[in-house]
Amino acid sequence: MILTENGSVHMAEKIVLDSHGRYFDVKPLILVTTLGPTGLPNVAPKTQDMDIGRREQYFAFACTPQHHTYQNAKANEEFVVNYPGAELIEEVSAAAQAAEDSDEIALAGLTSIPSLVVKPPRIKECYLHLECRLLEIRDLEDSSLILGRIVARSVDKELSFERGKSKENIKLLSEHPILAYVHPDHYAKISVAEEFVFPRNYKP
Ligand SMILES: Cc1cc2nc3c(=O)[nH]c(=O)nc-3n(C[C@H](O)[C@H](O)[C@H](O)COP(=O)(O)O)c2cc1C
Repeated sequence: MILTENGSVHMAEKIVLDSHGRYFDVKPLILVTTLGPTGLPNVAPKTQDMDIGRREQYFAFACTPQHHTYQNAKANEEFVVNYPGAELIEEVSAAAQAAEDSDEIALAGLTSIPSLVVKPPRIKECYLHLECRLLEIRDLEDSSLILGRIVARSVDKELSFERGKSKENIKLLSEHPILAYVHPDHYAKISVAEEFVFPRNYKP
């Protein structure tokens, strides 16, 4: 639907897509850390990802089977999902370079810190970390779905908040913009939000 200047609404013309990548779509941009066969930490950005469950008990992301991330997660059955803030966009790009026999986290200009429960490290500069144990890998045509159970979560203290304090939380976001990937080749710094008003009698 398109809203015109005089306030009237008219339906946009629909075209049939014959290939992907010709529309905007927002995705969470995460850095997945795993451990390689010799124990060196590996990092890769992923955008096809989601947490699952009303209490965010599971996490799933799509991964090309040729990637080290896939092979490491399959072998060690653990991975960590790290959320970078908007200030880390250059490091996120650097993390997309695959390297053999080296600490990819350090190569990307980032710092490893131990995780609370699993062996792959957290990334210190990221603000949120979901530590996962592998539940299942579903191989699809040219990508695979990696599903894990979240076994520990940690967040930067200054970015933790209580729900229901919308004004304070909107201000917090304006001071610490988060990062979103705008598929296929843009990103956004999200620093402006409005409170979502749920319908009355809404039951989640
Ligand atoms: C912004 C961005 C998003 C990406 N998203 C995905 C993704 O969702 N799934 C995937 O398999 N690869 C994705 N990639 C590609 C890999 O993460 C990248 O090639 C990485 O170097 C693989 O490293 P690895 O072999 O160490 O796992 C993405 C790359 C970039 C730059």
